[in-house]
Amino acid sequence: MPNLQSNTAGIISPNPFWLASAPPANSGDQIKRAFDHGWGGAVWKTLGQPIQNVSSRFGGLHYKGTKAIGFNNIELITDRPLEVNFREITEVKKSHPEHAIIVSLMVETKEEWKDIIKRSIDAGADGLELNFGCPHGMCERGMGSAVGQEPAVNEEITSWAMEYSTVPVLVKLTPNVGDIVPHGRAAQAGGASGVSLINTIKSIIGVDIDRMVLNPRVGELSSNGGYCGAAVKPIALHMCAALARDPQFNIPISGIGGVASWRDAVEFILLGASSVQVCTEVMLRGYRVVEDMIEGLENYMDEHGFENLEQMTGKAIPSFSEWGNLNLNYETIARIDADKCIGCYDCVVACQDGAHQCLFPAEEGKKRVPVIDESECVGCNLCEIVCPVPGCITMEEVDNGFAPATWNDHVNDGKPLRPKKGAH
Ligand SMILES: Cc1cc2nc3c(=O)[nH]c(=O)nc-3n(C[C@H](O)[C@H](O)[C@H](O)COP(=O)(O)O)c2cc1C
Repeated sequence: MPNLQSNTAGIISPNPFWLASAPPANSGDQIKRAFDHGWGGAVWKTLGQPIQNVSSRFGGLHYKGTKAIGFNNIELITDRPLEVNFREITEVKKSHPEHAIIVSLMVETKEEWKDIIKRSIDAGADGLELNFGCPHGMCERGMGSAVGQEPAVNEEITSWAMEYSTVPVLVKLTPNVGDIVPHGRAAQAGGASGVSLINTIKSIIGVDIDRMVLNPRVGELSSNGGYCGAAVKPIALHMCAALARDPQFNIPISGIGGVASWRDAVEFILLGASSVQVCTEVMLRGYRVVEDMIEGLENYMDEHGFENLEQMTGKAIPSFSEWGNLNLNYETIARIDADKCIGCYDCVVACQDGAHQCLFPAEEGKKRVPVIDESECVGCNLCEIVCPVPGCITMEEVDNGFAPATWNDHVNDGKPLRPKKGAH
């Protein structure tokens, strides 16, 4: 049985699954229930000077029958009194001592940081998370992503927190930047124990086209919000990996953004995260989702011979390279399993209109299985992506006799490239 214990910058939890700072981690009673379901840790809903939230405040991106593949909110930080939050943190730490409680914080002045850090640690926090990511409301008041977008300010406030904290401090980064690397480095330069990413992406989830008002609507006005949920995972994975492979960045990462299954969690861990945080999936389906996540991760680790998370963390990072290092002579072509093909021709349409015109309908009178012109197939994957039948179309490697050659090799030494396809 693999050991699921996670250590993120010295924050120990029985497994790597943490609730992200958000509505599912808003109160002590909720977090106790979450821990009873198996969550390893929880990042408490951000504490600061309590604010008044608006109604309504959430929006969903529904796509062709699937609800909320993306999610948006214009909620701010906690609206509950600080002393109530601190009392509950102490209670949860007492009832569930093995689980990690990380307290998310966002205040303005150095004095406020000093005070709220002390009170969080006195209440029993195992770690702190500095919310430098909220892209709405708080940034207009000089906090949240307004801090996360300015490396010098990020570094300075992180250094204040490190001066006052006796527990590990994670800096939660905003994805609303062109390149995440300088921002991770700034947190590291400020002395952060680790980073967590991503917070939400600045967005407009949609427009009520009859009222002509953005969603979610507060009367007849709205505002940009923060985007999250399954649809943001690719952005989050890229940012996690960009930091994990940066030679100058060497502090732990807690991965966040679109984790909805154990597979998503595995992806983050393989790209360098030592824990993962979940918000939207829990909002949509409840705390119970962690049961499947734990079981799936255990099975995966067993299958791949990982005894603990350290052995697994960052395992896919060496595969992440610059484009100029990819082998231009590597070649795949599509193969269609005629027995599985249902003859829908979705692949033919996609290939003809959206790719390289190498799939064709079968001759009249023959079984409806697309015919591939292998001399033109560039191995782009589009047919496999649109095919509705699992395993019907596969991409197979072909040996074309050309030695590996990258763009960098070709430019520098003129290494030969295989003849181009799809250039007709
Ligand atoms: C309704 C809502 C409220 C949130 N509140 C906070 C917050 O108070 N502090 C914070 O750091 N992040 C907050 N977040 C961001 C989440 O913690 C998380 O970074 C983001 O939702 C991405 O994870 P997900 O794709 O699993 O939802 C909030 C997200 C949502 C949807």
